[in-house]
Amino acid sequence: MKEFKRTLITAALPYANGPLHIGHLAGCYIPADVYARYLRAQKKDVKFVGGSDEHGVPITIRALKEGVSPQDIVDKYHTLIKDSFEKMGISFDIYSRTSNKIHHETSRDFFKTLYDKGLFEEKETEQYFDEKANIFLADRYITGECPVCHNASAYGDQCENCGSSLSPEQLINPRSTLSDAIPVKRKTKHWYFPLQNYEPWLKQWILEEHTEWKNNVYGQCKSWLDNGLQSRAMTRDSNWGVKVPLPDTEGKVLYVWFDAPIGYISATKELTEDWADYWCQDDTRLIHFIGKDNIVFHCIIFPAMLKAHGSFVVPDNVPANEFLNIEGDKVSTSRNWAVWVHEFVKDFEGCEDVLRYVLCANAPETKDNDFTWKDFQERNNSELVSIFGNFVNRTWVLMHKLCGGKVPVLHRDVFDETDQQIVSDIADAKAKVQTALENFRFRDALFEVIDLARKGNKYMQEKEPWIKAKSLDTNPENQKLIDNCLYLCMQLTANLAILANPFMPNTSKKMLHMMKVVDRILEWQNAGKIDLLRTGYAMRAPELLFRKIEDAEIEAQLEKLRSGSALNEKKTEQTESVSVQSVLPALKDQIQYDDFAKLDFRTGTILSAEKVEKADKLLKLEIDLGFEMRTIVSGIALHFKPEEIVGKKVVVVANLAPRKMRGIESNGMILMAEDADGKYIFINGDTDCANGLAIS
Ligand code: 2FM
Ligand code: ZN
Repeated sequence: MKEFKRTLITAALPYANGPLHIGHLAGCYIPADVYARYLRAQKKDVKFVGGSDEHGVPITIRALKEGVSPQDIVDKYHTLIKDSFEKMGISFDIYSRTSNKIHHETSRDFFKTLYDKGLFEEKETEQYFDEKANIFLADRYITGECPVCHNASAYGDQCENCGSSLSPEQLINPRSTLSDAIPVKRKTKHWYFPLQNYEPWLKQWILEEHTEWKNNVYGQCKSWLDNGLQSRAMTRDSNWGVKVPLPDTEGKVLYVWFDAPIGYISATKELTEDWADYWCQDDTRLIHFIGKDNIVFHCIIFPAMLKAHGSFVVPDNVPANEFLNIEGDKVSTSRNWAVWVHEFVKDFEGCEDVLRYVLCANAPETKDNDFTWKDFQERNNSELVSIFGNFVNRTWVLMHKLCGGKVPVLHRDVFDETDQQIVSDIADAKAKVQTALENFRFRDALFEVIDLARKGNKYMQEKEPWIKAKSLDTNPENQKLIDNCLYLCMQLTANLAILANPFMPNTSKKMLHMMKVVDRILEWQNAGKIDLLRTGYAMRAPELLFRKIEDAEIEAQLEKLRSGSALNEKKTEQTESVSVQSVLPALKDQIQYDDFAKLDFRTGTILSAEKVEKADKLLKLEIDLGFEMRTIVSGIALHFKPEEIVGKKVVVVANLAPRKMRGIESNGMILMAEDADGKYIFINGDTDCANGLAIS
């Protein structure tokens, strides 16, 4: 096996167009962090880099939708994401961002090197353009009728009804999802990277030399390679991104998947002036942690780019995880079916290690997996509290009670087989955790940690030092047995702190405090030993490592998930985390003044609001119009609680014919605006004016 001098760990750069959810953590950040912490504990030369991916069409679209600049969007989410990572203890050596100058320079240089080597193909093609939104349309932003199943809302890359893979040209009556305009074809020039030229090398490198890669990764690569690679455009028409470093290319930027992985290089440059050691020396081990949707980019496209460039190492491994579902359903940012990290850290402050534990114990390592709040509670209560926490707590309480709060002596003369067994278990645990971690089997590794705590509990149960303490008067020799038991339980605790540290760093820290020892004890070489805590050394009182999680907390989370997604149920799913709803609805047909004059708008105040039985979406409102009271049934119940809107000013269509809804006669309609996320807002909620005024 090749000897490596240093390891460079990367974790996929999340798009800065939305907050982080726990699927992201489980997919790559927790495993990457565990691995980085493990190598640091081994005193290896390791750097762990990450950052926000701040380019790409979804960010420009989101900015358009929200009426702000793309920079505003990425500033907001970069800050939120970075903070979530910090709170979850993801220990990046640097968390950078691709809007940084150093990244733009690095990406432009990279592109220019390939260009100067003559490695791009320059092609002029016709692409769909939205004249209303003034933007070339990526395939996802074109919708139309599917030529196969005639579903009316297929996308330019795929029909989600029949699953056919499509190109925008195949759609019948294509429309822009941004403005609803009929897109027109426009000529545009782009630079293509001929991936097929790297196929022989990729086949040799992956299929022959990296048979050790995870099955899901190897399998996906094989399928791409078996199907044959094609040229891919590495530039796009846009004003947001890294500008193409060639003359006369105004309005053209690098494809986001060209610049994003170069972000790993620029982040390393920003981190250390020795960056080239990590990128240009053969004895660097480069490891990309990603989710399965990123496999082709990290295993095929980026390595081909690196190879073409010629100055950089290629990844040694790409341990990609599959997806984490939530409560049996796919994570959907647009439907708000997700557990957001920034909310979790608020709702469960102090339980960050529990989430790290659960996401690792249940990681989608080989197949998609499910996160449920019940499982979260159960793993906390019955594994962390009852096994790990309980063992450490019992040890500490008994040591204070029966050994004067100090590490007791180990008496070799009464050392028995059970003692010998637990000593072997401690050494074995280290070996097992290590082997699992080195093979990216994080679940197995974590299982071994808990299993050691389980064995500790069993050992203590067999030794029963509290029973032996009862007959000390008649059997003074029992003190030796008590000492041996607690000595070994304490050494086992120290081992647990070392082994758990990559997974639950805050917990290990608490344990160090109880043991009154410094961080150095956490070095991996110390694991497996039983002389970590010195005889006679005084210990602190026990600390609670984990608290019980109550049913009510879990219920509250389930309710949050359900109601949050109900609010967003109208929205459709889109892969790059933004809704494909129109930015704004298309204008309706023109009307004459007379049509408008027929409408009687009045100002009013909501005096009362109540839910309509058996109708999730309806509220019954009593509205004061100044000259009379009106009952109006309004479909706003998913957006507001009744008590929130009492007292609000509204505009009422006062001459709308009455209509019965759920048996209640509704006399009019209130006007609301709908924001970019589909949420209703009061259009004049703060205006203080008399009721009954006519609006014209
Ligand atoms: O899928 C994603 O979230 C991408 N932003 C990952 C980019 S990883 C790397 F290439 F930067
Ligand atoms: Zn179809």
